[in-house]
Order: sequence, then C-alpha cells, then structure tokens
Amino acid sequence: MSTSRRTVLAAGAAAGLAATVLGTTTAHAAAPRHSPSKKHFGTLADGTVVDVWTVGNGGIRLQVLSYGGIIHSLEVPDAEGRLANIALGFDNLADYVAKSPYFGGLIGRYGNRIAAGRFTLDGHTYQLPLNDGANSLHGGTRGFDKQMWHVEPLTRGSDTGLVLTRTSPDGEMGYPGTLKVQVTYTLTARGAWRIDYEATTDRPTVVNLTSHTYFNLAGEGSGSVYDHTLELAASRYTPIDAGLIPTGELARVAGTPFDFRCAKPVGRDIREGDQQLVRAKGFDHNWVLDKGISSAPRYALTLAEPTSGRVMRMYTTEPGLQFYSGNFLDATLVGTSGHIYRQGDALCLEAQHFPDSPNHPAFPSTVLRPGTTYRTSTVHSFSTR
Ligand code: GLA
Repeated sequence: MSTSRRTVLAAGAAAGLAATVLGTTTAHAAAPRHSPSKKHFGTLADGTVVDVWTVGNGGIRLQVLSYGGIIHSLEVPDAEGRLANIALGFDNLADYVAKSPYFGGLIGRYGNRIAAGRFTLDGHTYQLPLNDGANSLHGGTRGFDKQMWHVEPLTRGSDTGLVLTRTSPDGEMGYPGTLKVQVTYTLTARGAWRIDYEATTDRPTVVNLTSHTYFNLAGEGSGSVYDHTLELAASRYTPIDAGLIPTGELARVAGTPFDFRCAKPVGRDIREGDQQLVRAKGFDHNWVLDKGISSAPRYALTLAEPTSGRVMRMYTTEPGLQFYSGNFLDATLVGTSGHIYRQGDALCLEAQHFPDSPNHPAFPSTVLRPGTTYRTSTVHSFSTR
C-alpha cells in the first residue's frame, strides 16, 4: 500500500470515529441506562440454571447468556429510531446446546482452526479434539461457547456492562495450562459495545479469544446480508487450503474479490469463480488488518445496511479479522423470531489473531506464558446514516 493510501485510511478512520461519536450522542442522548438485570433462560440437562442478562445504554440493548457467554440479542436503532435485534440466535436454550453454529458465542481457547488439531510448544506436542473434518475449530468439541460463565454486573461512570469469568482447567480440550479468563462486555452512553478479553496461565499455552456474533443490520431473520456494504482496512488476507487452513501466504487483495478497501456490497463478488471462494463457499477468510497489532483499539471496518441506515464500525487491538459470510447456514435452523436462516442471512466479523498461528511461526504469536497477561479489546460503534 502506498503512503498516501495509508494516510487516507488513517484520516478516514479518525473522521469516522468522530462522526460516530457525534452522531450517536445526538441520536441516543435521551436513552436511559438500564442497570444489568437477569432472568431465568433455561436449564441444562445436568440441572444447571442458565440466566439471560439484559443491559441497556446509549440506545443499545444487549442480552447475554451465562451459557457460552452468548450474545443472545443486540438491539440497535435504525435511522428512524426503531430498534431491531441485529444478532442471530435461538429463542430457547435447547437449540443453543444442540445445534448452534456458534451463534453469538464467546470463542476460546482458540478462535478458528488449528490444523490437524495439533501444535508444538516448547518441544511438547499437544493434540486437540478434531471437530471440523481433520482440524480443530473454535476451541474443540466443548469450547468456551459451550461452557458456563460466572456473570457479574458492572457499572463504571456512565458505562454499564457485564463481567464474565471462568477458569479453564489444565488440559481442557487438550490445551495446556490453567487458564483464568475474564471477558467484559461494556455498553457506553454513546452507543458503543466494547469487549475486553483478559487471560493468565500457569503453563505456557496458546490463546485466541473472539466473539462469534452473526450480524444482520436489517434485523435478525430479515433475509440476506449481500446488500450490506463492507469496508475493510486490509490490503492482504491469508489464503486457505482445501481444509480452510491458511497456507501461510499473505496475499494482496488488489484485483481480487477480497478487496474491500473501498466499501462494496458483500455479495458483489461472492459468486466470482475464484478457487478461494469455491473452497469456503463464499468468504470465510482472515484479513490482515493494515494497522497491525495495536495497544488500543484502532479502526478495522465499517458495515452498513442501506435500508435501515444502520452502520457498525469496528475498532480492535487485534491484527486479524475473520469475515465469514454465513456460508453454512442452510435453512435448517429456525431463529429467535421464528424465521429460517438461509445461506448469507448474516455475517460474522471476528477480530482475532490469525487462524492456525501455532503452526505458522511467521504469523503474530498466540503464545501466552505464566507471568504475562493476555489482553485484547474490540469496539463496535453504532450510528445511522
Ligand atoms: C467460522 C469458521 C467457519 C465456520 C463458522 C461457523 O467463521 O471460519 O468456517 O465454522 O465459524 O459455522
């Protein structure tokens, strides 16, 4: 990327942040803050009670399950101030347990795939459960999205939110080290949803936490997202092999369907006869964010839906962004509002480190060692146009 292009992107990002903050301040100024409250959502087969927590601030309302730290719903106003739930999910616990394709899940210990479910760290080889063909996906057969979390309400200044904690025992899903995890979901008075992830370990391990929310800015169950426009501040992406594992190459997006540097409809190039799109049945790739790893969240993308006017911008400390265009939704699931979810009815934007990093020494490291703290943050800011 040329220096001038970089400058334009950086300036655009700064301007975008200012516009969002101003826009949402006006739109949401009168919206009250709701202290977090909880209700019974369901009961697991072993008798464990699952709560649904509700938090509101800045005109946004978030519902989170104590099972899987799942984002059960995310209500955001459109240009006329009408709220809609923009996150796919189910209206009952049994479906989340039995058939969820990670709807809203808090993903750990490792977001996306690890090839052959195997990696070597400090001379030890670890074998993880294979739950995606020959590979391990999203932390294995019982990842963090299928575990119970301890949830505490949080109120700090004008922010409100939830603190989720869990200790993952040494060896859980094959991963070494007792991992103490804290994930904070915060809603700000200006209509932003922020996620802060923290973890410590007592043995060297690998960690890559993310959130697997399926977004449809026109509203969950309202149809395809192919008309949403997406701008991704990434000039490269990581091509995949037939098992959807990165080959290790950082390929340029220029001249390919993967070029979202200028906003374009999600569906515009999705049917191009490109081998990468054939393999994933659409987009299911990691983009290499131009900003790289940052200590504070920096601009990554803008998603916009023309009819409702809803706009979501994401800022992250992470170096990668997995954009998945809902390729495996196949009309077999009935969602929260009673509608069938078909292919392309939502998309996931998972800020994270690159897939299979433990097997790619050239990728940014996902190794966590005792005495250090894993810290990443991602912000979703909402506005309308
Ligand atoms: C991620 C993966 C996809 C798919 C979805 C869930 O985005 O990259 O391949 O597994 O999760 O179906």
